[in-house]
Amino acid sequence: MLQIIGLHAYYGMIHILQGVDLDVGEHEIVGLLGRNGVGRSTTCKAVMGLVAARGSINWRGRNIVGLRPDQIAHLGIGYVPEDRQVFPTLTARQNLELGLKRAGRFGRWRFADIYDLFPNLRDRQHVLAAQLSGGEQQMLTISRTLLGDPDLIIVDEPTEGLAPKLVARVGEVLREIARRGIAILLIEQKLTIALQISHRLYVMGHGRVVFTGTPAELAAEASVRRQWLEV
Ligand SMILES: Nc1ncnc2c1ncn2[C@@H]1O[C@H](COP(=O)(O)OP(=O)(O)O)[C@@H](O)[C@H]1O
Ligand SMILES: [Mg+2]
Repeated sequence: MLQIIGLHAYYGMIHILQGVDLDVGEHEIVGLLGRNGVGRSTTCKAVMGLVAARGSINWRGRNIVGLRPDQIAHLGIGYVPEDRQVFPTLTARQNLELGLKRAGRFGRWRFADIYDLFPNLRDRQHVLAAQLSGGEQQMLTISRTLLGDPDLIIVDEPTEGLAPKLVARVGEVLREIARRGIAILLIEQKLTIALQISHRLYVMGHGRVVFTGTPAELAAEASVRRQWLEV
């Protein structure tokens, strides 16, 4: 459904993405791995129209390069950025309502579905987002994105800074979201949940894809892990 071909992006004079090729199929969980600074977030932002890019980003056969972020979201691509953008002075519930507004209606997800997925948010719905823990803010951002009824979500480092128990929980939740028919492009640095839940993986190094394969194939490629992933 998403097909990125020969994607290039620059920050000023610096050539960040140097011909990225990447596909996500319907219902697929695809992991995009790499060390800090290799261009994973820039790839996400290019797909979402948040950084200028050259190349093709085909979404269901249509090239979306050059569209505005709101147009891209409206076509069914949801984005959970790495910096958990909750509205701190609104309650959790109000944050969720903002996600809903973007779609203007309920789609696959109603508040009850969200609260089933994240029981914590049901208990904490009237708490200001600023007072939620890092894990709860992450859940809130994912939920708000789901209420926009996307067919694909791009989730940028959702486990960053979370305790191991919460990391595992994020993995379970993403799997449950995928079970409901939503494709996922999961950005991670560590192998933990990406190896467990992804159908296919890409590894990026220096603005390029340096490995593509299944989790089992990556697990067998010690040299790829050593060169491009381990710190
Ligand atoms: N707004 C920006 N302006 C200039 N350089 C940036 C900006 N954002 C990221 N970079 C640089 O681009 C490179 C890729 O960054 P990024 O895509 O965020 O990497 P990753 O998400 O894989 O850690 C890094 O060298 C980073 O320092
Ligand atoms: Mg990043």
